[in-house]
Amino acid sequence: MLREKITYLDNGATSFPKPEGVLEAYINFSKNIGASPARGGYATAIEAGRLIFKTRLTLAKILRVEDPSRIILTKSATEALNLIFFGYLKPGDRVVSTRMEHNAVIRPLRYLQKKGIIEVLWARITEDGRLDMDNFIKLVQTSGVKMVVTTGIANSTGVILPIREIGKFCRDRGIVYVVDGAQMAGVHPVNVERDSIDVFVFTGHKGLYGVQGTGGFFFAEHVQIQPLILGGTGTRSELDVMPEEIPVRFEAGTPNTPGIVALGVGAEWVLEKGIENIHKHKQEILKIMHEKLVDIEGVRIFGPQDIKDRSAIVPIIMDSLSPQQTAYKLWQDFKIAVRAGLHCAPHIHNDLGAEKGTVRFSFGANNTIDDALYAVEAIKSIASEC
Ligand SMILES: Cc1ncc(COP(=O)(O)O)c(C=O)c1O
Repeated sequence: MLREKITYLDNGATSFPKPEGVLEAYINFSKNIGASPARGGYATAIEAGRLIFKTRLTLAKILRVEDPSRIILTKSATEALNLIFFGYLKPGDRVVSTRMEHNAVIRPLRYLQKKGIIEVLWARITEDGRLDMDNFIKLVQTSGVKMVVTTGIANSTGVILPIREIGKFCRDRGIVYVVDGAQMAGVHPVNVERDSIDVFVFTGHKGLYGVQGTGGFFFAEHVQIQPLILGGTGTRSELDVMPEEIPVRFEAGTPNTPGIVALGVGAEWVLEKGIENIHKHKQEILKIMHEKLVDIEGVRIFGPQDIKDRSAIVPIIMDSLSPQQTAYKLWQDFKIAVRAGLHCAPHIHNDLGAEKGTVRFSFGANNTIDDALYAVEAIKSIASEC
């Protein structure tokens, strides 16, 4: 049963392999076009600008954003989140977030809190790893809350948050709702209008099947954000301040054009396959993992024990091995690539008594049922040795 090839089950960190055409687009741009967008009137510079716009358009389709210029491109979800927190929040603001966030949310918010600029209230998690909605709603109703930040899908458990419900609750109260959609874009349907999302952050290299070093965010017209990075935009060079126009106001500096072009191809691939279809396929994988893993002695599934409202992330803990030891064995003996530890989400692991973290299997659109069965057999074999 041993496989020669690598079985890559770490798509929560970054999706791999990329669909056909993604890397080709990266190389083709670098080799045959190569110009800096919006910084020249010659054909290849114009083409570079056109290709970036094309990516923006595809991303707008995925998030159901009407005006593609409201899609701001950054180098990562992390950069986008920093830009939003530092560019929007004001002294005295109160923010509500959750105990299942990634450090990309925790660290900038904690920084602003430690500096005495904002106050952050962190909503609890239930024993089975879902958001404690009663506690969350209570916190959002505290006076002075200006912003609510939640992940769309928790990278630690795959739990899908009720973003539409939260969005409506916040919209009714005039509170800005920010979704960290790093694990959600391309994985689960999003409609920023219908879901009342004011800011939606995405990364390019996970469920959108682009390359690393790409990401961005959508923000609604009523959200006034100051740019964090100032500099050249290739336009309005006579101004010694940042232009007001979007998206350039938030995109100073030469962009990662080959990466953005490749992201566009990845995102188009997702659209063609259909987000619902990808989700359905991964649900089948998730079901198998759950059904088979519960029968293995000494193995516990972390977080919810059912697959309801979950994406294909399966975190486990083995009684007799640390997550790192388990991941090492999976790699050494089975060539299975997974991630072990806290997955940059320390609070949830701490709250649910998994201080050493978990071994996380995270499946992508290209994984198969066979990959899941192979992973189960590998865990069975490791458990039987202990
Ligand atoms: C939920 C969540 N938020 C934010 C990030 C950060 O994304 P990036 O590394 O692309 O900035 C990740 C990446 O793992 C994530 O899973």
